[in-house]
Amino acid sequence: MKIKKAIIPIAGKGTRFLPATKEIAKEIIPIINVPMIHYVVQEAVDAGIEQIIFVTSSGKFSVEDYFDRNQELEAFLERNNKTKELELIKKIGSMVDVTAVRQKEQLGLGHAVLMAKSMIGHEPFAVLLGDDIVINHQPAIKQLMDVSLSNQGAAVIGVMEVPQEDTSKYGIVKGERINPKTLKMNGMVEKPKPHEAPTNLATPGRYILTPEIFEILEKIPRGAGNEYQLTDAINVLCQQKNVFAYQFEGERFDTGNIHGYLDATIDFALKDPETREKFITSLQYRIKKYGISL
Ligand code: G1P
Repeated sequence: MKIKKAIIPIAGKGTRFLPATKEIAKEIIPIINVPMIHYVVQEAVDAGIEQIIFVTSSGKFSVEDYFDRNQELEAFLERNNKTKELELIKKIGSMVDVTAVRQKEQLGLGHAVLMAKSMIGHEPFAVLLGDDIVINHQPAIKQLMDVSLSNQGAAVIGVMEVPQEDTSKYGIVKGERINPKTLKMNGMVEKPKPHEAPTNLATPGRYILTPEIFEILEKIPRGAGNEYQLTDAINVLCQQKNVFAYQFEGERFDTGNIHGYLDATIDFALKDPETREKFITSLQYRIKKYGISL
């Protein structure tokens, strides 16, 4: 079955980006001139997703507005013959159908996903976390969709190898390797200590899930951090049905923290022919200015 819907939870307060997030949604903070959330939605759209369900909280209207048409701005750009900008703005306003549901209390990622239950129905769906940008010619979430399709529509968790000391930052999968990039999962654990982690295969927040997950989410107790964890529900799902973990291809930027955000900014500025040359000149100048030896 074709996967048409994606849940993107964006209810978090973005405290690591204060003071900016005092007044603007973290997701709207741009990497150069493109809001972070644009990259995540683009990944879903490029994978064939037709509807995005944002799980929001107060102060997130700007994310919905960003993916909506802005007639006033369009008229202004038209009057001023800004054709290129007009096309760009129109394209964003019609790139995908967007819906929002509220998460009234921040009780964890599992709770956030459960809020979208009535929007999903009985189909498999995607979940993408907005704090992670994954760049690849073939979208990471599309790679997971393909694995799901070739396994009777099973749930598939996107994973990457992380250093053992970082396991406590992620949901970690366990299972049997059935081919070089795929595991048949028999469990998942949220943020295990490095010496307790079953593997070093972590999810950066890319999932294909089946609707059974909602009944499980309704029953699970609070887990790590006293929150309802999606990881704990996936762990239960593994006991009931086939669930796979897939090591996707792509470069992942952890834009949920300042370092990852800077890393993405530098990478994107170097990659884009429009910014590249002047940016290199700036970097060379600043490295000299601060007496940095490379
Ligand atoms: C969440 C998930 C975790 C996942 C991570 C990816 O944790 O609970 O399993 O590995 O996102 O970024 P958070 O970073 O929100 O604490």
